[in-house]
Amino acid sequence: MNKYLAQKIAEETNYLFQAEAIEKMLEKPKHDELGDIAFPCFQLAKFLRKAPPIIAAELAEQLINPAFEKINVVGGYINFFLNKSQVMNEIIPVILKQQQNYGQKEQSFENVVIDFSSPNIAKPFSMGHLRSTVIGNALANISEKNGYDAVRVNHLGDWGTQFGKLIVAYRLWGEKGAIEKAPIKELLKLYGKFHEEAENNDALNNDARAAFKALENGDLEENSLWKWFKDASLDEFQSIYELLNIHFDTFEGEAFYNDKMADIITQLKEKELLKLSDGANVVELDNMPPCLITKQDGASLYATRDLAAAFYRQKTYSPKKVLYVVGNEQSLHFQQLFHVLKKMDANWAEHLSHVGFGMILKDGKKMSTRKGHVILLKDVLEEAINTAKGNITEKNPTLLNKDDVAKKVGVGAVIFNDLKNYRSNDIEFSLEQMLHFKGETGPYVQYTFARICSMLEKASLQYHDDVIKITLTDNAWPTVVLLANYPNIISEAFEQMDPSLIAKFALQLAKAFNKFYATTKILAPDDSINSRLALCKSTSIVLQDCLNLLGIEAPEKM
Ligand code: ARG
Repeated sequence: MNKYLAQKIAEETNYLFQAEAIEKMLEKPKHDELGDIAFPCFQLAKFLRKAPPIIAAELAEQLINPAFEKINVVGGYINFFLNKSQVMNEIIPVILKQQQNYGQKEQSFENVVIDFSSPNIAKPFSMGHLRSTVIGNALANISEKNGYDAVRVNHLGDWGTQFGKLIVAYRLWGEKGAIEKAPIKELLKLYGKFHEEAENNDALNNDARAAFKALENGDLEENSLWKWFKDASLDEFQSIYELLNIHFDTFEGEAFYNDKMADIITQLKEKELLKLSDGANVVELDNMPPCLITKQDGASLYATRDLAAAFYRQKTYSPKKVLYVVGNEQSLHFQQLFHVLKKMDANWAEHLSHVGFGMILKDGKKMSTRKGHVILLKDVLEEAINTAKGNITEKNPTLLNKDDVAKKVGVGAVIFNDLKNYRSNDIEFSLEQMLHFKGETGPYVQYTFARICSMLEKASLQYHDDVIKITLTDNAWPTVVLLANYPNIISEAFEQMDPSLIAKFALQLAKAFNKFYATTKILAPDDSINSRLALCKSTSIVLQDCLNLLGIEAPEKM
């Protein structure tokens, strides 16, 4: 609707502004009673040399059209009231026909690479990795909804000097059986012990450096230990991904780039970008610390592997965009990375962006994995599922498949709690709050969806899809307007890389619908029953789609 109106206004004002610019000027009036769309005439005044209220009055005359029920001029504003019947009859049949394809943008056959989750081998899956996992997955889904092919990359932290330490620690104190039983817990213990012992015994650090060097040189024994640590950790991570229902296209992590770094270093040398500094090789950067490329002993670094990864992805996927979904604390790393690429004349680097995010707080403090008190994500998710099960049993004791529903609700609550906030903000983690069936929660949206499903089931005899004309009372209007706006929200969420726009939209839609539900006898056997059920069905389609974009499943009963 906004597009159409903007085009009309552009025409009537002889293209003082292009339609796209006009569309950006359109506003939502402060109160619903003022209208559906407002156009402020102030910017036109400069060009037309007339007072805004006069322009508004004249222009309003020109815009009279069956698409508008009423047009009011208030000061310099033109307020439009959409023709409700026309909009309803345009939108609802489209949703019913397209189902979950409503709002789907045309296929562009371009790739968007999303580097997300990327936990570190032999370390616990942290709350930060949880954020990266759910934000990255939502962005991948949103990219697909916007017509792109998403490439989901798990850039595993499976290389680095810490593996030298682990190998040394394992040889000194490790126990095969214990690691097989609980890999991450045991490896973490070994890593901790290494640091304790190394404080008074520097020789250990030298051994660790030598072991990492051997690993980088491809020595067999070190490599088979490393592979074992990696596979065992990955098994544990997989069980988390299964719980979250998230998959990746590739697990090409840091180690994958071992044989791809020499070429980068050659390029850096050829471009005379490599400088020696205390025996290490660095690239000097403007207005930020230099980027370390190799250490004194020739060992590579995190940044070196990211450089190689950037080139490899460019060659492999020619992506439209590459998103690095990593906490804000790594923003310097990514600034350095992008800056080095620019110095290497990699003009495609402009497609790369760091999609940062804030921390997860518990009672205002960082939920950390440091100093012995490790919060295991798996435990958190299991607790969420258990609590959800309790809530569900209380509400609906006879429900079948309680376990399956509890899993979807518990996990969904954790994901929704994360995604409803703008990603750069820190978020508070309260299982109790996020599992409420009321308020701004995932279960609230899921519950609204399930409620509509059971109503449609009840009505299945009366209800048929081929409604000829939609007739609805005015209390349905806020829901209809939201439904009509969904395609715009999808575009915006992609442009701003912001899944919270989808989550907030889902909350608004659920609220608007519940208000309608509370003030309407939906199943009353009158002429409009099919129109009302069509609105219910359309709402359920869009709510489900929102949840799915966020990576949340929507049970039909709960
Ligand atoms: N493994 C890293 C960490 O846990 C995150 C990797 C992010 N991706 C990247 N290409 N650097 O901090």
